[in-house]
Amino acid sequence: MGNFLLITIITIVFLIQTSLQNENNECPQRCDCLEQYVDCSRKNLVSVPRIPKWVEQLDLSYNKLSNDVTEGFKELLSLKILKLDKNTLLRIPNFLYLNQIQEVSLNRNSISSIDTNHFPENSTIKTLSLNSNRIKLIKEGALNNLTNLITLKLNRNELVSLPNHLFMHQSNLKVLELNHNKIHVISGLLFQGLSSLTTLKIKFNNIENILDGAFFGFKSVSLLQLDHNRIKSISKGWMYGLESLTTLSLSNNLISQIDFGSWELCTNLETLDLSHNYLLEIEGRTFQHLNNLHILNLSNNNISAISQEAFSQIIQLQTLFLNNNKISWTVEDMSGPFSKLQNLIIFNLSANHIKSISSRAFEGLSNVAELDLRANNITSIQHHAFDSLSKLRKLYLNSTSLLCDCNLLWMVKWIRDKVEHKYVTATCAYPAEVRGVTIAKLKEDNCGDSPKPKIIEHPKSHLAIKNRSANLICSATSNPFSNMTFLWRKNNGNVSNPAVYENITLVENGKPHATSVLVIPDVSHSDSGKYQCVVSNKFGTTYSTKAKVNIVTFPRFIKTPTNVTVKTGETVTLNCAATGDPPPEISWKKDGGNDFPAARERRMNVMPTDHLFFIVNAKTTDMGIYSCAAKNPAGVIMANATLTVLQEPSFIRVMENKEVITGESVVLQCMITGSPKPVLKWLKNGTPIVPTERHYFTADDQLLVIIGAESNDAGQYECEITNELGTKKDMIELKVLPPVAIMVKEEDMTGIIIITIVCCAVGTSIIWVVIIYHTRRRMAGAVHTYPSESVKMTQVVHSDNDSPHMFPDNLSEHSSCKDSGTGDSAKQTSFDGVPSDRTEQVHFETAVCQSYSPVPEAHKLLPSSFKPSIQVCVNTCVTPATYSFSSHSGNV
Ligand SMILES: *[C@@H]1O[C@H](CO)[C@@H](O)[C@H](O)[C@H]1NC(C)=O
Ligand SMILES: *[C@@H]1O[C@H](CO)[C@@H](O)[C@H](O)[C@H]1NC(C)=O
Ligand SMILES: *[C@@H]1O[C@H](CO)[C@@H](O)[C@H](O)[C@H]1NC(C)=O
Ligand SMILES: *[C@@H]1O[C@H](CO)[C@@H](O)[C@H](O)[C@H]1NC(C)=O
Ligand SMILES: *[C@@H]1O[C@H](CO)[C@@H](O)[C@H](O)[C@H]1NC(C)=O
Ligand SMILES: *[C@@H]1O[C@H](CO)[C@@H](O)[C@H](O)[C@H]1NC(C)=O
Ligand SMILES: *[C@@H]1O[C@H](CO)[C@@H](O)[C@H](O)[C@H]1NC(C)=O
Ligand SMILES: *[C@@H]1O[C@H](CO)[C@@H](O)[C@H](O)[C@H]1NC(C)=O
Ligand SMILES: *[C@@H]1O[C@H](CO)[C@@H](O)[C@H](O)[C@H]1NC(C)=O
Repeated sequence: MGNFLLITIITIVFLIQTSLQNENNECPQRCDCLEQYVDCSRKNLVSVPRIPKWVEQLDLSYNKLSNDVTEGFKELLSLKILKLDKNTLLRIPNFLYLNQIQEVSLNRNSISSIDTNHFPENSTIKTLSLNSNRIKLIKEGALNNLTNLITLKLNRNELVSLPNHLFMHQSNLKVLELNHNKIHVISGLLFQGLSSLTTLKIKFNNIENILDGAFFGFKSVSLLQLDHNRIKSISKGWMYGLESLTTLSLSNNLISQIDFGSWELCTNLETLDLSHNYLLEIEGRTFQHLNNLHILNLSNNNISAISQEAFSQIIQLQTLFLNNNKISWTVEDMSGPFSKLQNLIIFNLSANHIKSISSRAFEGLSNVAELDLRANNITSIQHHAFDSLSKLRKLYLNSTSLLCDCNLLWMVKWIRDKVEHKYVTATCAYPAEVRGVTIAKLKEDNCGDSPKPKIIEHPKSHLAIKNRSANLICSATSNPFSNMTFLWRKNNGNVSNPAVYENITLVENGKPHATSVLVIPDVSHSDSGKYQCVVSNKFGTTYSTKAKVNIVTFPRFIKTPTNVTVKTGETVTLNCAATGDPPPEISWKKDGGNDFPAARERRMNVMPTDHLFFIVNAKTTDMGIYSCAAKNPAGVIMANATLTVLQEPSFIRVMENKEVITGESVVLQCMITGSPKPVLKWLKNGTPIVPTERHYFTADDQLLVIIGAESNDAGQYECEITNELGTKKDMIELKVLPPVAIMVKEEDMTGIIIITIVCCAVGTSIIWVVIIYHTRRRMAGAVHTYPSESVKMTQVVHSDNDSPHMFPDNLSEHSSCKDSGTGDSAKQTSFDGVPSDRTEQVHFETAVCQSYSPVPEAHKLLPSSFKPSIQVCVNTCVTPATYSFSSHSGNV
């Protein structure tokens, strides 16, 4: 009995002893242990049980731990992995004593901040998970002791921002996850120190701004996820440091812009996800530098415009998602927009707005094996459209709108030969007989014309003048005629808010056609470009040719020439400059023509760069209206300036004393020049000469003709000339000699003919004045039947030199300019004489030849009562003109 008691006591003591020993060595009662692993999860624990010291891996997840649990681990010096997920912890426990700990998981607790003092210096923790807590705050330097951290997960917290330099000591960190927080800005250098980071996930935050240099120092990051944020644009600035990046995902942001050159610093990118953004357009340089890109996801954007060069840089691309965009004309009208994508294998264009496929749409896509064109209402596919897709196996095509006219029959055979039928489920919509029939089952026997729109009038290229309105016209018809819609496009984008007039005209070869007129009411430079109209009906879409509209602006003067008056010998400067687009060309004219006396004499200089026009050593011949014309394709404008050259009155030649035999005639000359033309006054013995029957002035009063000189005609003749610049005088003596007896048979004498040919220079022209006069004496018995006088004058021998421009200095009346003679000539021209009813009649027959305007000048020079009846054109004074003329009597 006592023995039994003793044994019992011993047993109890033993048991107590072992249980005392067990306190730190045995698996806790409610937990499961396997070697160094203690699993206390899902045990409704409210506090940490006694855990054996040998534990290396401890799972306390799914309990109700809420108080500080630090005491419970204090002695677990071997602990390596600790899981405390799904408890109600309010703070991070203290790990100061756990010097073996490597992995801590605190997901799904109620921790609201990361403070200092949780981790010992050089903490051994490599993985720390704090997902799904309520962390709002991370104290500055809080992670400083976690120098061995490799993975840090902070997903699903309430972080709005992170303190700067937070990761300065995490040079070993490889994975950082911050998904589902509320971070809105990534400031520059935020991630400084993360030199080993390979993966950064910041999806589902509120990031709007990524500041320049935000990822600087990310030498090793290969995966960056920024999906589901509010990023609006991509710029090069935040790409610094991403040289190792191979995968970048930016789906579900608000990106509408990708700056050119953005990718210059991350040329190793292989996968780029830009799906679910707001991209409208892919330009030639949008993906520049992405030479290694393999996968590009652009699905679910608003892309409608793809430039010809858009994909020319990313030739390594193997997968391209362009589904759920607004692509139409890229495939309908462009030639080879994807032609550089020769490595592409998977190409998704489903759910776009593609209605037809042009023959060149898929040019160059020689490796594509899978092409998805579903959810496009495709009506027509041009012949050869799939020719280059030689590796195509899966063509996904499920349009129910196919226009199964003769133009589509090629598809039937092609599908049969080339691709797996089951993916091509497209059916016909037209003609009615085959509506609903799968294309692969189409028969070739009866097919008809295409009812798609046909363009009759394409818009035309033209120059449009700025600030005016411009029109572009597009006409189309279809058979059968159906409602057509017109769309206007400019530079491969739609014309925004177009002013369009549309109408239907019923007669064009009996066929109706519809017309759309695009009106640009007030043309500005931004309106230049290539315009195209796109005509659709329910059967399909047709594209017009592109019309180039260039904008020009009308020339406008910035400097106009002004009227100038100079004296001879001075320099004339005329200014003229104009603007316009294209810049107008300036040209000059003188008196509406291109003859510039100053140019011939090399006194003129046009300086286009300075808009200046010079005449040096001005002469009276330079006088006139100078017109400056500014011309460009928009039009021409003109400005005029009058050049006046003043010249003192002067005598061309010294007047000569003359002698005349009584009864004969004499011509006194006073050849003058000056500008303005001097007023000429003849004085005889000091008194002005008035014209009489015997005294005539001609050639602008430069010639005084005295007919039938009488003795009282002798005297001093003075010529006085005056203009604004002064007055000059010259004087001669006329002697009248006694008459000489001439024996003439009166009957044979029809008249005395005196010819005076005077060569003179007036103004710019050399004028030959031929004065022929004859006196006629009344003859008895012939008075009443006085016949019309007939003077025959035969000319004309003159020089070939047809443009005498200068007055030769050596010209002498005697040497060359005066000639007379009588006699017949072989070449004869008849001139009717001037009928006369006067008994004593003087006929002046003045012929004038002026190099520029012979006839009018001739009239001016004539005494008003006479009409010219002979015109002799002599063009030079140097070569003497030879005249011969005869006079013969009429019926006398
Ligand atoms: C780092 O550890 C040291 C000592 O182990 C401690 O004093 C310090 O507060 C810790 N720092 C942080 C930020 O936890
Ligand atoms: C922490 O690590 C650094 C660098 O390795 C070392 O200089 C320092 O002494 C360590 N501190 C402790 C407390 O071990
Ligand atoms: C975009 O495409 C890539 C490549 O197929 C794919 O991995 C990714 O999930 C796509 N993104 C979205 C948001 O669908
Ligand atoms: C074509 O396929 C797409 C994608 O599978 C689908 O959403 C669409 O409804 C289909 N259209 C037709 C007409 O079957
Ligand atoms: C395609 O055709 C279907 C049926 O005709 C229509 O409901 C749908 O709106 C069309 N889609 C487009 C993008 O035009
Ligand atoms: C064309 O459209 C007009 C108005 O949109 C409609 O009244 C007319 O019936 C249509 N004609 C045809 C042939 O569809
Ligand atoms: C239709 O437009 C054309 C082209 O502008 C025009 O010539 C024609 O007069 C218009 N017809 C009607 C009925 O307005
Ligand atoms: C220039 O001269 C012309 C002709 O003499 C005259 O009609 C015009 O008004 C003048 N212009 C100016 C600006 O004086
Ligand atoms: C300028 O001069 C030219 C020729 O001289 C003439 O045809 C034109 O009408 C003039 N223009 C003006 C604006 O005076």
